[in-house]
Amino acid sequence: MESPLYVSVFLVLCIFILSSAHGQSPGPEPFGRFQAVETKETLRETATKFLLFENQMDKGCRIRLNHSDTLQQCGFNSSLPLVVIIHGWSFDGLLESWIWQLVATLKSPLVQPVNVVLADWVILAYHQYSVAVRNSRLVGQEVADLLQWLEESAQFSPSNVHLIGYSLGAHVSGFAGSYMRGKHKIGRITALDAAGPLFEGTSPSDRLSPDDANFVDAIHTFTQEHMGLSVGIKQPIAHYDFYPNGGTFQPGCHFLEFYKDIAKHGLNAITRTIKCAHVRSVYLFIDSLLHPSMQSMAYLCSDMDSFSRGLCLSCKKGRCNTLGYHVRQEPRGKKSKQLFLMTRAQSPFKVYHYQIKMQFINQTEKPVEPAFTLSLLGTKEDMQKVPVTLGEGITSNKTYSFLITLDLDIGELIMIKFKWENSAVWANLWNTVQIIIPWGREPHFSGLVPKSIRVKAGETQQRMTFCPENMDNLQLHPTQEKTFVRCEVNSENRKRKIR
Ligand SMILES: *[C@@H]1O[C@H](CO)[C@@H](O)[C@H](O)[C@H]1NC(C)=O
Ligand SMILES: *[C@@H]1O[C@H](CO)[C@@H](O)[C@H](O)[C@H]1NC(C)=O
Ligand SMILES: *[C@@H]1O[C@H](CO)[C@@H](O)[C@H](O)[C@H]1NC(C)=O
Ligand SMILES: *[C@@H]1O[C@H](CO)[C@@H](O)[C@H](O)[C@H]1NC(C)=O
Repeated sequence: MESPLYVSVFLVLCIFILSSAHGQSPGPEPFGRFQAVETKETLRETATKFLLFENQMDKGCRIRLNHSDTLQQCGFNSSLPLVVIIHGWSFDGLLESWIWQLVATLKSPLVQPVNVVLADWVILAYHQYSVAVRNSRLVGQEVADLLQWLEESAQFSPSNVHLIGYSLGAHVSGFAGSYMRGKHKIGRITALDAAGPLFEGTSPSDRLSPDDANFVDAIHTFTQEHMGLSVGIKQPIAHYDFYPNGGTFQPGCHFLEFYKDIAKHGLNAITRTIKCAHVRSVYLFIDSLLHPSMQSMAYLCSDMDSFSRGLCLSCKKGRCNTLGYHVRQEPRGKKSKQLFLMTRAQSPFKVYHYQIKMQFINQTEKPVEPAFTLSLLGTKEDMQKVPVTLGEGITSNKTYSFLITLDLDIGELIMIKFKWENSAVWANLWNTVQIIIPWGREPHFSGLVPKSIRVKAGETQQRMTFCPENMDNLQLHPTQEKTFVRCEVNSENRKRKIR
């Protein structure tokens, strides 16, 4: 799948991160009056700018620590919760555009009213990566100072605070949590693809961890390793760690899209593409705000392999949870829960997960490439020809389990059509083979016999069993399709036929 151009762009990115992590590259110069960490003591202001937004179009109003008048001036409402957005490492000294989209979404009528603050620490983030990492502790301290001051001067409890940190900002949130004195912890921290380099494998006190807030959730979207490094952290760091599409990479961020982008946006496309999977975490989060009725469900699973076999679609005992803003906040101990889900390539990202379990009897003797599709007919919608990958040939009477995902809510499933998708050429060949080869003395059987199909719908937790509609001829040959209906219904039909 990976093309050379895609790989080389990646190498450039990784070399950049590597060299800056080792201090070999000069990196961009700091700008402004702030030279680095040491400047803090000499200034009365925090290096981090805290900007409060009153409405969607707002440019932000600066809240100054220890100046209670700025709270009034900026319109801070202490009876509402506070969301603090914390950006990550900056390689161009600019605030990224997702920030304004997240602010606007949080301030939209779709969301219960909240105070929205941006912790703008670009001045400390626009350095070599390793310097920005060092600075992230200071920013964490300043965020903690802000929250402590709000508690003391406005009786605003830190438990009403939700920090949303992207990339390096996720660890800033963690540091803020660990610098909180007093008896109240920060209410919630959301990590949007928390940074990996210099954090992966470190002790919980050196990165975001579940101790840093009453509830911590993390969305991992770009943990694919290149030269031993990944942009996003892979290890669990939260109470609930979500791994959309396995967490390594995201649909829609591949080379082909990248190539289209280059033609359209020139060099800008390169950074956009590199960031695509990383920043997807933000867009998944925004999506959860924009589509209250289309919340993506994720399921506890040991790994992506089991998940893609459809083995993990259970919601029993808190095994599933909603990705994004409306996550069910249920901190149970310090152990992280790793949840998996699939998504679409664009918003709305939600898909509907189904486990399909099929038992086959393989009566063929010639090797064939199994290529199957399922068409699903529901009470609301139909989905045609969803490809099925079994990953292996059907060698015996085994039951196969696999995951399929649908972009639409088809309602309750009422009929399944199972098709063996082989070319017409193949079908002819098959038939020829059937005729030429004598199949032995017994009345010869040849073909695949798909027996019952068991389905579990993740989103509704409904289990159903489907039986062949026509029991007379169960064998399936290439290019043929068999229809399955709900067994209960079917048996009633048969009863009716008998009468
Ligand atoms: C705010 O006040 C506290 C205590 O009075 C002090 O320790 C802190 O340095 C002040 N911070 C700023 C940014 O003025
Ligand atoms: C603060 O928020 C509360 C709850 O939404 C609202 O009733 C009140 O009017 C707000 N106060 C101000 C000053 O906007
Ligand atoms: C059925 O079994 C035969 C013999 O083991 C194998 O060659 C063939 O590929 C199998 N068919 C399918 C559809 O997997
Ligand atoms: C598969 O099942 C059929 C019918 O139930 C049986 O005749 C056949 O021996 C079984 N084959 C294997 C490999 O278990």
